[in-house]
Amino acid sequence: MSRYRYHLFLCTNERPSGQPRGSCQARGALPLLDIVKEEALRAGVPGPFRANRSGCLDACESGPVLAVYPDGIYYRVTNREEIARIMKEHLSEGRIVAELQIPNPPPGPPA
Ligand code: FES
Repeated sequence: MSRYRYHLFLCTNERPSGQPRGSCQARGALPLLDIVKEEALRAGVPGPFRANRSGCLDACESGPVLAVYPDGIYYRVTNREEIARIMKEHLSEGRIVAELQIPNPPPGPPA
């Protein structure tokens, strides 16, 4: 049995400027973690759940990246409205938000 019903990972990885893949932190990820927590509570996400910062999730070009486990769904999130929608529709109602989902590419080498 899992410790959490949902475990959310928001990539806040940072790379030096000029790196071709960029990074989620350069795309504004840092302030989004508090919003994830706020909107999860507001949406009544079934618990227990946890939201953590993470390192690179290997979808850098699509970031900022929010991963939802145990479902293994990756989203691109840029603002409160998108996060609120994911918390309500996916985590509370069980419907993946296809418009915000990042397709699963084959995993690259470990970062
Ligand atoms: S830097 Fe965020 S997924 Fe790679």
